[in-house]
Formats: sequence, structure tokens, C-alpha cells
Amino acid sequence: MNLILLGPPGAGKGTQAKHLQDRYGIAQISTGDMLRAEVAAGSEVGQQARTIMEAGHLVSDDIIIRMLSARIDQPDCAKGFILDGFPRTVPQAQALDRMLTGKRLRLDAVIELEVDDAVLVDRISGRFTCAKCGTGYHDHFKPLHLAGTCDVCGAHEFVRRPDDKRETVSARLTAYHTQTAPILPHYKALGLLRAVDGMAEIDKVAGQIVGVLDEMRTAPAA
Ligand code: AP5
Ligand code: MG
Repeated sequence: MNLILLGPPGAGKGTQAKHLQDRYGIAQISTGDMLRAEVAAGSEVGQQARTIMEAGHLVSDDIIIRMLSARIDQPDCAKGFILDGFPRTVPQAQALDRMLTGKRLRLDAVIELEVDDAVLVDRISGRFTCAKCGTGYHDHFKPLHLAGTCDVCGAHEFVRRPDDKRETVSARLTAYHTQTAPILPHYKALGLLRAVDGMAEIDKVAGQIVGVLDEMRTAPAA
């Protein structure tokens, strides 16, 4: 099963992608995580991307498309993938169509997480991640069970993203509304787009997504 998770920054794409990965055994492909790994490694791509990301702008389509195409060819994508943070512009969506055709793959669904802008800033500014296993948490919405200790791996170090400052979040929201939202009609026209209420609690959002996918998979082909 090949999916796209779309939604503004902080909508819960990463949170839900992890859930779908565990449930269906398909790979989460987060272009944001891939770029952060490049930045951490100090690679050429990372050096180009760092300041753009810290300003809340989008990295160039060329870099992203090349990175994504190579990632889909990895063995862990054989059963399928969840695209988290890609495509984010009309040229990226067009490139994805060509890429999938070339690889003889198809999309099964595009899930849009709908969340009001007002709550996104709070979600993003409270977010932190385990430095060892990458599990995501939130100061209020998804706190640690035991203070200072990762629920999953027991590590004690956590990180906050440099682009999660309040002022950067508004640039990221603008990028979403002006550059990413225009790709939604394309997937609607293909009959693949399903909107989900991303304002609900995390488990309820997960339940809605599974419900939508079950429905699409059992619906007779058009
Ligand atoms: P990326 O890493 O993709 O960031 P983003 O799209 O801004 O989204 P986030 O990761 O911030 O949010 P999310 O939707 O994953 O939410 P999460 O699950 O963490 O991209 C970062 C940057 O990289 C971009 O700005 C750009 O520069 C560059 N980039 C990446 N891809 C690119 C591309 N294709 N083209 C060009 N540039 C690209 O949830 C947020 C918080 O809320 C968490 O703490 C979570 O616990 C909590 N939460 C989640 N769901 C709920 C809920 N239902 N209720 C309450 N709390 C919740
Ligand atoms: Mg994310």
C-alpha cells in the first residue's frame, strides 16, 4: 500500500505515519527527517538545506525529488510506503506521478490531516523527540510516562527542532498554504483524496485513517 499523508506543519503527519508503519509494515518516508539527517551529517545537501529549513522555507524541488526517488527504491519500501512531507509543491506532485509510473507503482490513497492554524503553533512549540530512537512526544499532548525517560527505549536525552520556534512556524504555515495546498485538487480529481479531522485525539485520528483506508480497499474499483 502506497500512501501520502498531507497536512500543515504540526498536523500530525509524523505521528500518524509511525502508527501506519507499525500497523501495515510499510515504510515511513519523511523528507524532513531525511533532510535533518543530511544536516546532521554535514553533507553538501545538508549544508544547502540547513538555512532554508531554519527560515521555514522549502528546499529546492530538484534536491528533494532526487532524494525521494532513491529512497523509494530501498528494500524496506517493497511492501509499500507512507510519504510524510512529500510532495509539497506542484512540481513535486508532477514528478511523483512520473516517478511512480516509471517504477510501475501506484498510489492507493492521499490522506489530508485537517487542523486549524491556531492549534498548530502550540503543537509544534511543545514537541520534542528522543535523541536515541526518535520517538516523538509533546509537553502537554503526549508527555513522557516517566519524567526524563523515553517510554520506548529508556534513553534520557531529548531534542527540539531548530525550526520549531514560534516565528519560524508562521513561515512554514505560509509555505504550506501557498505552495502545498495547491496540490490537493490534483489528488481530489484522481479520487484519491480523503480528509480526516486532525484536531481529534491522536488515537482517534489513527482510527479515522484506518477506517478510511479499509473503506477504500474494500470499495469496488471505479
Ligand atoms: P517536515 O519535517 O516535514 O516538517 P512539517 O511538514 O513542518 O511538519 P512537522 O514535522 O513539523 O509536523 P507533523 O505534521 O509531522 O506533526 P507531528 O506528528 O510531529 O519538514 C521540515 C522542513 O524540511 C520544511 O519546513 C522544509 O524546509 C523541509 N522539507 C521537508 N520536506 C520537503 C519537501 N518535500 N520539499 C521542500 N522542502 C521540504 O506532530 C506535531 C506535535 O503535535 C507532536 O508533538 C505530536 O505529539 C503532537 N500531535 C500530533 N497529533 C496530535 C493530535 N491529534 N492531538 C494533539 N497533539 C498532536
Ligand atoms: Mg513531521
